Formats: sequence, structure tokens, C-alpha cells
Amino acid sequence: MSAPRKVVVIGAGPAGYVCAIRLAQLGQDVTVIEKEEIGGTCLNVGCIPSKALIAAGSLMHKIGEASTMGIKVKEPELDLPKLIEWKQGIVGRLTGGVTGLLKNHKCKVVMGTAKLTGKNSVEVTSKDGKQTLKCDDIVIATGSVPIAIPGFDFDEKDVWSSTGGLSPDRLPKHIVVIGGGYIGLELGFMYRNLGSEVTVLEATPGALPGQDRDCVKVIERSLKKRKIKLMTETFALGYEKKGKKTLVKIKTKKGEEVVECDQILSTVGRRPYSEGLGLEAAGLKVEKQGFLKVDDQMRTSVPNIYAVGDIAGQPMLAHKGSKEGLIAAAVIAGKPDRYDVRCVPAVIFTAPEMASVGETEEQLKERGVKFNVGKFPFAASGRAMSLMETDGFVKILADAKTDELLGVHMVGPEVTELIAEAGLAIEMGATAEDMGRTIHAHPTLPEAMMEAAEAVHKLAVHIYQK
Ligand code: NAI
Repeated sequence: MSAPRKVVVIGAGPAGYVCAIRLAQLGQDVTVIEKEEIGGTCLNVGCIPSKALIAAGSLMHKIGEASTMGIKVKEPELDLPKLIEWKQGIVGRLTGGVTGLLKNHKCKVVMGTAKLTGKNSVEVTSKDGKQTLKCDDIVIATGSVPIAIPGFDFDEKDVWSSTGGLSPDRLPKHIVVIGGGYIGLELGFMYRNLGSEVTVLEATPGALPGQDRDCVKVIERSLKKRKIKLMTETFALGYEKKGKKTLVKIKTKKGEEVVECDQILSTVGRRPYSEGLGLEAAGLKVEKQGFLKVDDQMRTSVPNIYAVGDIAGQPMLAHKGSKEGLIAAAVIAGKPDRYDVRCVPAVIFTAPEMASVGETEEQLKERGVKFNVGKFPFAASGRAMSLMETDGFVKILADAKTDELLGVHMVGPEVTELIAEAGLAIEMGATAEDMGRTIHAHPTLPEAMMEAAEAVHKLAVHIYQK
């Protein structure tokens, strides 16, 4: 066996820590450098805390509907400090778990800020001073940071980024959310469910740009039903404080207006993070959008330097970063591997949830691919009825010639879980007929996927297709 390679991984988010653990499993000598918290954005101030708060919001909403099932419940009361403590407990257990895993795998962890000083050297500044690590390979997994728009610098007091929005010191009476994308809508629904008034300002003509428009229509209807105000083609220009009031100046198609609120949350996207990383010293340069260009083995233009996760390009999703981390680790350890995925699932924890994998109708049309569509509504699912969650549908796009699954888009109950089956099917080159012929347990939500697959050939049994 060849001698272990000395590898420095910069960043301990879901791309970096997964890469580090896999490198250790493959016998390499690994040092991980992290300047903030083990677990990165995802575990500390992203996916995990948001899902905890969203689950609490959904429960509050569900309790409000319990009387339909004949269960009488008094008005639920929110104990916000207790909710935040519970959420922090989950974050603590997970980050503690990852720290333990790194230790068990004998990955060295240095808490400090890394800077490249050459192709094979990294300088780390920590509270104990500076040290230089020599290595064979470097993996850059520095992630991304929220974008701030002019007039709305994050002070995490008047203007929250997603980080502030996930650790509220109080429940805002009226929160203005700038940006109707993933984070804006997830947190918008969450705050509404917990009891805030919510206004979402979105620059484009609709929520969730780039997502399947049929699915988004269901989300937009739900926003209306829950009395969340979505203002499209609207830009936030600035704000001023008047006593306890926050006055947000906005520009709509009709002209300028002022919206009064007591909290602003700005979620207009994230950008890759590489400031102060010393890329030039190693001969690296970011592209226009700030990403580091990589090949299908996660190599940058410098062969012994790899990039994984948000810094390595869209989509900026934790699971895509983890996958890239595994590939970089295998390649460094000399194993044959490359990023060769047919699809990356996307899940959005709105109410109802939305999930998709593969191409959208718009993308297929643009590529000139002929396809058939099969759709099945949750309103026809017994399981969805028993959950009192019948809004939404599963939509399957299959190649008109080969019947191969090209895209699956869904909105409705538990679809963030359901999408896994669709991802596997696309990866395995399954056809709509394959999925339709597979027995799905009754009564479950995934039956909707089987029926949508049957609907591609006008053979769904539980809906009438002319
Ligand atoms: P995003 O790109 O999803 O949405 C930003 C929204 O802001 C867009 O709809 C855009 O049109 C709008 N916008 C931009 N500038 C604006 C302006 N000046 N005024 C009004 N609207 C404006 O970005 P977001 O929500 O900040 O999330 C960042 C990334 O984090 C996502 O792209 C996603 O990759 C990741 N994420 C993933 C989640 C998941 O997997 N469930 C959850 C949350 C975030």
C-alpha cells in the first residue's frame, strides 16, 4: 500500500467534513481547518435549525386544524425561548456527533482561519497564533455566505440574514421578507405558522424562480390561504427606523410605497465564499460568479487542489456538496471515481412541501426534447385525506420516445421524503412503465408516484383520464 497522503481540508460543513471522514476511511492523513463551527452553515445556521423551527410551526398549524378531526384543543401558546433551546439542542447533538466522528476517524481538527500560502502549504491563524501546514493535497470547502443588498446590511437586529432569522429573540408582529426563494418562503411560512404577519417581497414575477411553475402555483395559493402577502415584481429600496417602527421603502409596478413592520429578513441568495483564502498564492482564481471551476473529479486548475460544495458551483445544496466531498476523497486516495450524477434532488420545506429531481418542462422544451406528462393529485389519495393534506400533486415527465423518466416534480404532504424514490429511478434509467408496474404499499403517499407514472400512459386507475 502506498504511503498515506497528507491532506488539508478547509471547511467543516457537509462537503468538507464528509470528505475528511471518507479520506480517513481510505487511509489518508487528514487535517480539517474550521474558522467557526464544525458542521458549517447546514448544521449550525441552515438546514437543521430551520427544519426544527419549521416542524414547530407546522405543529402549531396542525393543532389549529385539530377540531376538524373532532379534537378540541385550546389555543396553542408559543414559548419562544423554549423553542430556541430545543432547536439549539438538536444543533448541539448533531455538531457534537460530527466532532466525535472526526475524532474517531483520527482526523486532526484545527479551529482557525486558513490561508493558502502555496500549492502545498496552508497557514492557519487561530487563537494560539499562526502555524503552517505542509501537505500533498488541499480540499477547499469554504461554502457560501448570504448576499446583502444595498440599504439592507445585516446587523442581525433590524435586518436579519437567515442566521438571525433562525435565532429570533422575539416573535415579530410583522416581518417583511426580502426574496421569495427557498429561504424566504421556508422561513416566511414558519413565521406565519408561529403567529407573525408576513409580507414577502419578490423581484421576479413569481415565487421560487426556476422551479416547476405548476408546483409553484400550489405554493402561491397556499400563501394566500395562510394570509402571507406575496408582492411580486417588487424591490426593497431601503428602510428607516421611526421609534419602534421599521418603515421599508419599496418599489412596485405601481410606484413607490412604504410598508411598516417590526422586522426585516433579507434572503436574496448566497454567494460562494473565498475572501482572504489566498487563492492567488496557489495560482487559483475564481470565476465571475465567485465559484472555483472544477473538473468531474473535483480538481481545480491546480491538480493537487480540489474544491467541493457551494464554492464549487450550483446548486448550492448540502447533499450535492457531500457527494462532491466523497468523490474528491476517493480521487485523492487513488480510487477511480468521478461526479457522474444524472440528477440532484431539491427539497423545499414550504407548506405544502415541494420537491423535484431531473429536468423541468421548461428545460425540456428549451432542449427540444419531446416528453409525456403524467400527473396525479393528492386529493385522490386516501392517505393524504387521512392526513388532512390533500393540496398538491406528483408530476412525472417521461421521454416520449423511450419512456425514460426525465423529471419528477411534486408538491404536497411529505414530498421531501417521497422524492428519494424518483431520484433512484432516474439514476437507474427507469421508465414510467417501470415505476407504474412497481407495487407500492397501500395506503401510502408514494402510491401517488405510481399513479402519476401510470398517468403518463393514461392508465391511472384512481383518476379519470379522457
Ligand atoms: P434563492 O436564490 O433561493 O432566492 C432568492 C430570491 O430573492 C429569488 O427569488 C430572487 O428573485 C429574489 N431576489 C433577489 N434580489 C432581490 C431583491 N433585491 N428584492 C427582492 N427579491 C430579490 O436564495 P435564498 O432563498 O437566499 O437561498 C440561498 C440558497 O440556499 C438556495 O439557492 C439554496 O441553494 C439554499 N437553500 C436550500 C434549502 C433547501 O435545500 N431546502 C433551504 C434554504 C436554502
